[in-house]
Amino acid sequence: MADNVGNTMGKDYHLDVAPRFDGFHVKGLSHCSWGMKNRLSRIFRPSSGNTVMLAFDHGYIMGSTSGLERLDIVIEPLLPFVDVLMATRGALRSCVSPSTDKPLCIRATHDASVLHEDMSVGGGAGLDMEDALRMNASALAVQTFIGAPGEGDSLELLCRAVDQGERYGIPVLGVVAVGKQLVRNARYFLLATRILAEHGAQMVKTYYCGDFEEIAAACPVPIVIAGGKKLPEDEALTMAYRAVREGARGVDMGRNIFRGTPAAGGGHEVPDREAYEAVLDSMAMAVGKVVHEGFTDREAYEAFLEIKNRS
Ligand code: R5P
Repeated sequence: MADNVGNTMGKDYHLDVAPRFDGFHVKGLSHCSWGMKNRLSRIFRPSSGNTVMLAFDHGYIMGSTSGLERLDIVIEPLLPFVDVLMATRGALRSCVSPSTDKPLCIRATHDASVLHEDMSVGGGAGLDMEDALRMNASALAVQTFIGAPGEGDSLELLCRAVDQGERYGIPVLGVVAVGKQLVRNARYFLLATRILAEHGAQMVKTYYCGDFEEIAAACPVPIVIAGGKKLPEDEALTMAYRAVREGARGVDMGRNIFRGTPAAGGGHEVPDREAYEAVLDSMAMAVGKVVHEGFTDREAYEAFLEIKNRS
């Protein structure tokens, strides 16, 4: 048995040595099946190795959260500017046209709603693999709660999703959820991201924090960062820029993209529908420039302002 020494940090992450890719552009996944690699190639652009996932799954635990009150209005204008749609099957079926060519990362678990004090317990499988296939899922997303009472059950769900995904060539995004009682620091994210990868998740979603380079280096599969609460656009772009520079392979971002309007808690004056869409689109575009085109945060923010003002 490994040492029971608590959560310690390692020391040597060999940050001067680039990760191995072995002929496939997605880190750590060169030995997957053809079908899984084909799906991963739809998620991570072969040209950059990175991805912009649009996360709009918040309603599965939060209900009609600010910025996502009307899925049918908010999501569609954003589609041209993102690579992947990360959502529940209910949101996808009802609000996204089946003619979309965007790959889908579908929530595969149900979890406790925001009405519960401890959201780590009470979750379970939320999607049958047959239905995922029927929806042409390119990936499944499973929430996990490392260090919380629901840790064991959520890892069980992750493992079963990975088993099913391996059978049908569908990768699993392991999502690091942070309970109220847990500290969001590098030590925690190092532990949680590595645990999810070691249990078979082909991709891991976590939050950006200090010492992110170590976290990305120690995770044998790609990490994408969640955006978290709405920030001013320049700060959100700086976070995305730093994350990618320090080893993230993209973002799975929601509120910092779709909460651009005053009604949704953003800071812009948006007089009409066209301007409303411009605000949404410009942030999605600017994030894409950081993730795929090597823009710095400053350059991306300038692009954001230019696109927003031009529209
Ligand atoms: C929240 O429950 C989901 O995991 C979201 O997909 C995740 O938090 C990313 O969205 P945001 O960028 O808004 O944090």
